[in-house]
Amino acid sequence: MASSSSAPLRVLTGITPSGTPHLGNYVGSIRHSVRQSVAPGVESFFFLADYHALIKVQDPALIQRSTLEIAASWLACGLDPERVTFYRQSDIAAIPELTWFLTCVTGKGVLNRAHAYKAQLDKNIAKGEDPDADVTAGLFMYPVLMGADILMFNAHKVPVGRDQVQHIEMARDMAQRFNHQYGEHFTLPEAEIDDAVATLPGLDGRKMSKSYGNTIPLFASRAYLQKQIASIVTDSRAPGEPKETEGSALFQIYQAFADADETQMLRKAYADGIGWGDAKQLLFERIEVEVAPLRKRYEALMSEPAEIERILLIGAEKASALSQPFMTRLRHAVGLRNLAAGRDKGSAKAAKVAKPSFKQYRERGDGLFYFKLLDARGETLLQSRGFASPQEAGRTIAVLQAERGAALAALAALAEQLEPIDTEQTRAVTEALEALAEATTTTDGS
Ligand code: TRP
Repeated sequence: MASSSSAPLRVLTGITPSGTPHLGNYVGSIRHSVRQSVAPGVESFFFLADYHALIKVQDPALIQRSTLEIAASWLACGLDPERVTFYRQSDIAAIPELTWFLTCVTGKGVLNRAHAYKAQLDKNIAKGEDPDADVTAGLFMYPVLMGADILMFNAHKVPVGRDQVQHIEMARDMAQRFNHQYGEHFTLPEAEIDDAVATLPGLDGRKMSKSYGNTIPLFASRAYLQKQIASIVTDSRAPGEPKETEGSALFQIYQAFADADETQMLRKAYADGIGWGDAKQLLFERIEVEVAPLRKRYEALMSEPAEIERILLIGAEKASALSQPFMTRLRHAVGLRNLAAGRDKGSAKAAKVAKPSFKQYRERGDGLFYFKLLDARGETLLQSRGFASPQEAGRTIAVLQAERGAALAALAALAEQLEPIDTEQTRAVTEALEALAEATTTTDGS
């Protein structure tokens, strides 16, 4: 199994850097996910889906700018990069490789049904054009890339808007197919739709969205925010006339920021006939209370892009410590293997004769207990540090056997139970642990 029940809940959130974050992003995603990331028992992954941005944006400067803006927004809203894994998708070399693996287990028919692709198709057909006009293979493959984002880190939960639920189901499907074919490698992810998280209406009352051009930027200046709020559409009722909260974009936006008492207060003001100008002023002030301190942090962060770059590169290292060994495991699983390593099922005999092994021993000099991992030819691949008892050494071996490559970084760098190894050695050790696990199941099973 890829995860045990005591393991923390892994939550993964991605945003495509294809524009400037707006109040809808804040209320619908950023605010909630940052709060959730500090909950106990939660391990969070936050990333900038810049490979996804290439699908719809062909302006390089815009992608760079948007990546910076969204990274700064998350940080300004309280994301703690020490506590979560915060990275840029394109810094994780294994993502495109996993995308290919998943591409090879995904039915084309499944992708034919993806909403974003189908919407473009329907639009073309309605216009009497070629159905595939303006459809890149990137748009078509979008759900597979997204599947790789999610499955790479074995996320349990993916908080998304309703429009993205289908993609999570597709990722689940890919995980199932891969697991069925190659063994239990992936956790099956679930979409998490929080109904308490509001979908914010935009200036015109429709859902606030870049594609409708009705957004209010999250971190525009105070004056611009006030101007934008003044342009929210309202009906023509005069001050003194009672107003309905139902269907009022202004009221809904207010509600997304206010607590129950404040909301009740505005509801009463509507019934008492508050003028639209006054209502807009209340809304502006309410948003400003929450956003002003964040804006200050945002501006400071935006003036230091090198610092954000540094933070993202540290995050990429943290993420790669998980993705690299996992990718080695997956490469082994599908058969992209070291040709000299022990062979697979059907050649159990060969595996028995030549397979990697653990060797435990006691050192006379210090009296401590050690182990080594030897390759099939008896060469040392991995050397432990000294343990006070053979049981302790045994426990570390058990962790390595169970978690394989995923445990290496933690055992070597953090717990200092292993002599340090470089990237190439890590790969060799991971392959050996995989081969060992496989040889064990093969022998047990036959
Ligand atoms: N497709 C998502 C969006 O546009 C962004 C995204 C990419 C994502 N990969 C992801 C979200 C993985 C969650 C998980 O909003």
